[in-house]
Amino acid sequence: MKLIVAIIQPYRLEEVKKALYAEEVHLITVSEVLGHGRQKGVTEYYRGVRETGNLLRKVRVEIAVNENFVEPTIKAIMKGAQTGKVGDGKIFIMDLKECVRIRTGERGPEAIG
Ligand SMILES: Nc1ncnc2c1ncn2[C@@H]1O[C@H](COP(=O)(O)OP(=O)(O)OP(=O)(O)O)[C@@H](O)[C@H]1O
Ligand SMILES: [Mg+2]
Repeated sequence: MKLIVAIIQPYRLEEVKKALYAEEVHLITVSEVLGHGRQKGVTEYYRGVRETGNLLRKVRVEIAVNENFVEPTIKAIMKGAQTGKVGDGKIFIMDLKECVRIRTGERGPEAIG
């Protein structure tokens, strides 16, 4: 099992969701976050407006998947979020030790999807 965390441009979220659904990935957590990458947030635009602060609005997408869904999930995030411009975001992939579905007590791969 892996936990995939992607930091993306907020305006790409709908496209990322669409691409994930096309790969049969439906279980996601989304949060609004602030961050900056190598450019330290100084040269980016949000909805056509230049952001003044050092920390820019980003969206964090978290998806826990079984091994066979790792590459399809990465592919879908790339498809939805990549524009070729700075600030497109990053994908972090972590080993996930355990998952528990609280309602049933199921664990591991059974509990994820
Ligand atoms: N190494 C990192 N650790 C933690 N968060 C990061 C890291 N790199 C990027 N992020 C997060 O991802 C967001 C988007 O990063 P961004 O795409 O600007 O990365 P970058 O390395 O600057 O690449 P690029 O040159 O394409 O802009 C940042 O605003 C920050 O929230
Ligand atoms: Mg950057």
